[in-house]
Amino acid sequence: MKAPAAPRHYLQFKDLSRGEYEHLFARTRWIKEKFKRYERYWPLEDRTLAMIFEKPSTRTRLSFEAGMHQLGGTAIYLYTRDTQLGRGEPVEDAGQVISRMCDIVMIRTFEQEIIERFAANSRVPVINGLTNEYHPCQVLADVYTYVEHRGPIKGKTVAWIGDSNNVCNTWLQAAAVFDFNVHVSTPPGYEVEPERAGVYNDDNYESFADPIEAARGADLVTTDVWTSMGFEAENEERKRDFEDWQVDGEMMRAAKKDALFMHCLPAHRGEEVDGAVIDGPQSVVWDEAENRLHTQKALMEFLLLGKVTKGKKKKAKR
Ligand code: CP
Ligand code: NVA
Repeated sequence: MKAPAAPRHYLQFKDLSRGEYEHLFARTRWIKEKFKRYERYWPLEDRTLAMIFEKPSTRTRLSFEAGMHQLGGTAIYLYTRDTQLGRGEPVEDAGQVISRMCDIVMIRTFEQEIIERFAANSRVPVINGLTNEYHPCQVLADVYTYVEHRGPIKGKTVAWIGDSNNVCNTWLQAAAVFDFNVHVSTPPGYEVEPERAGVYNDDNYESFADPIEAARGADLVTTDVWTSMGFEAENEERKRDFEDWQVDGEMMRAAKKDALFMHCLPAHRGEEVDGAVIDGPQSVVWDEAENRLHTQKALMEFLLLGKVTKGKKKKAKR
C-alpha cells in the first residue's frame, strides 16, 4: 500500500509559523464560541486520536480527550506501562503500528528524542503533549490567553521566574515566533541551555540573577513547579535552591500594574507561587487551563484538515 504524504507534526513550538498561529487563534475563537453556544461542530467525525502517556496528567488528557469527542471523533488513552511499549517494544515499531490504526497521536514522554523517533515512523500527525524539553500545547494556550485578555503579544515582556524547564524552553521559542521578550530568572545552576531550548540567539530573551529585576515592568509574570515530572529525586535539593524564586506580591508589584499572572498547573502554593498571587485578581490560570481545550481543538483540526475556513472541511482519504 502506498504511504500517504508526510504528515505535519507538532513536536515543538517552532514547528508552526506565526501565520499558522494566527490561523489557529482565529479558529480557536470560532470553535470556542460555537462550543459555548452548544452548537455541534463535528469536522473530525470518524477520526481517532491515540493518547500515549508515560507521565501523569489531568489537563492534557482531559482537554485532548474531551476535545476530540467534541469535534465528533474518538480518543483512546494508553498508559505506556499497560502497553508493549512498557515492555520494551521499539518506539519505531509502535509508531508504525499505532499510526495505521489511528488518525492522530498525542504523546507525553521523557526525552524529546523519543517523540521524534515515533514521529519519524508515523503516517499520521504526532503532537507533543509534554517532553522533558518542551510543552508546546501549553504555551499555545498561554499565548492565546494573553492575546484574549490583552491583545497582540508582539513587543511585550514576559517574566519567567524559576526553573528553565520544558515550559520555559517553549516560552523562549514562542518569543522568537511572535517577537516578544522573555526575562528569565533561575537560581544559579538552573540557567537556560539554549541548545536544549532550541533557540540559537538571545534576540528575544535576557537572563537576570534577581527575580525581582526579571519581573520589573513585565506584562506577564509566569512560573512553574520547582521540580518537574521525572526529576523527583532532586526535590529536596531544589526546594532549597529555589527558595527565593517564589512569585509573590512583591514580584507582582515590580511588574506592570495590569500585568497578568499565569501558571501551567498543577501549582504548589507556598513554593513557586504565593497563594495570594495565584488566587488573586491578576491571575488568569483558570482561563489558561480552559484554553488548552479550545486551542488544541483548533490544532487537531489544522493538522488533520489543513486551513479550514468557517465550518467547511476538505475531503480526506486514509
Ligand atoms: N499543564 C499541564 O500540562 O497539566 P497536566 O500535567 O495536568 O496535563
Ligand atoms: N514542568 C512541569 C509541567 C507540568 C505540566 C513538568 O514537566 O512536570
